[in-house]
Amino acid sequence: MSLYKGAALRRALAPTSVRVPSSSKRAFSASMPHANEPTFDAAAFGEQHITKGIGRLTKHVFEDGKGTYITTDKGVKLLDMTSGIGVCNLGHCHPKVSEAAAKQCMKITHAQVNIGFSSAQVALLRELIPILPHPSLDTVFLWNSGAEAVEAAVKLARAATKKQNIIVMQGSYHGRTCATAAMTRSKTIYGEGHGPLMPGIFATAFPYYAQFGLPSDTPIDELVEKSLFQLKLTLSQQTAPSDTAAIILEPVLGEGGYVPAPPAFLHGLRKVCDEHGILLICDEVQSGFGRTGTMFAVEESGVRPDVLVFAKGIANGFPLSGIASTNEIMNRQKPGTMGGTYAGNAVACAAAKAVIEVFREEKVLDNVAARSEQLFGFLNDLKNSGSKAGNLIQDVRGRGLMVGVQFQDADVIAQSQNEAARKKGGAGQIAPKVVQECVKRDMLLLSTSVFDVLRFIPPLTISEAEMQEACRIFGESLEAVAKEL
Ligand SMILES: Cc1ncc(COP(=O)(O)O)c(C=O)c1O
Repeated sequence: MSLYKGAALRRALAPTSVRVPSSSKRAFSASMPHANEPTFDAAAFGEQHITKGIGRLTKHVFEDGKGTYITTDKGVKLLDMTSGIGVCNLGHCHPKVSEAAAKQCMKITHAQVNIGFSSAQVALLRELIPILPHPSLDTVFLWNSGAEAVEAAVKLARAATKKQNIIVMQGSYHGRTCATAAMTRSKTIYGEGHGPLMPGIFATAFPYYAQFGLPSDTPIDELVEKSLFQLKLTLSQQTAPSDTAAIILEPVLGEGGYVPAPPAFLHGLRKVCDEHGILLICDEVQSGFGRTGTMFAVEESGVRPDVLVFAKGIANGFPLSGIASTNEIMNRQKPGTMGGTYAGNAVACAAAKAVIEVFREEKVLDNVAARSEQLFGFLNDLKNSGSKAGNLIQDVRGRGLMVGVQFQDADVIAQSQNEAARKKGGAGQIAPKVVQECVKRDMLLLSTSVFDVLRFIPPLTISEAEMQEACRIFGESLEAVAKEL
């Protein structure tokens, strides 16, 4: 029976505006508390007015960024070993990149791609296409975020193969949209409570010892063999090759734990894809743009992807992403199926062109090689030092400046469940504690994966002295955690 009757029902159904008292109407001149007020607390405002759905490492309010440092609204200078999760590869506000963006702002900011060609986009592509990992990747679609680009790759694979299913890696991360959350298998939190997610996604094994429950010194060949065997099973038990459009992987598993895909695994995937008319998609959103010591991580193996996905470092902080494939594959999509209001924004394109120029002019990849050696040297020395802190380290791995540290005998649980683990009498993971010790010492560092892993992703332009400082802070932080255990 209805709760409302007669006049009460009419009142309840009346348009909302009838019931809103005029005093609660908003005047255009009304404003929220202003940032210049001496008592204004931006973090408290953020806590109140920005969705709780965003997990946050610190409560700092970032005001300024230069190179490897960020300064907060309270004047705290933070050493940034996250580069905004692998975005500011040339450091914060690289002058050449910022200047190129500012100049573009005075020319044209929105050169809409469904209406005409964008001169800024064409200028970028003339620089970008020659540095892609294979000459066959000569046709591009630009978008805004990494997740959008992954979705574009999925649409392309489906249209090009006329098949539907997608195989992803266990431990993968491809984004948080409905399609990419379905493709993400690094932690349940990215899809939890948001189902049903996109169907047609099947996960197969990635050659990472921890995911097999094996020791860290398990030979790579064994892990590759096991993983390729699992792929065979996936194709015979879960998704038939005739239904499978693509296999997608990150050449360095990112959110899954900073684990490089061994070249033999990539060659194995290529072979399976060729045998069955399946497209191989490399998601280099995090591993691309110099991060691993080459422009793209897949270059190390020499394997040709059918589709490359890129974002993050391409524009050093401006939102830009894209996919590249062969002209033949790309042109199997009908005009109108791709596009988007902000696809390949002109300002972001101008910034990206400057990024490529800086890579050349400042020999950024040489710095990646030198700083990578410095970081690996420090971490391995610490691991082998015999100290209590060093003994906590199980494994140091990665490529270039995409470096992971895994801790010994960790509780295999998601960080979000750490509190529950402690309540049950467990110690919880080490990585999140080290991260907080680093934050206390004004350094930003991230953990990753359900395993107990820390990741170093500093700007690729980091100096020797800055890296030394980062190592010192990390060493002190790990020691502080070791003392408490
Ligand atoms: C490998 C990979 N793919 C896709 C994404 C999603 O990118 P975005 O956050 O820009 O949507 C990320 C983000 O971290 C990523 O690391």
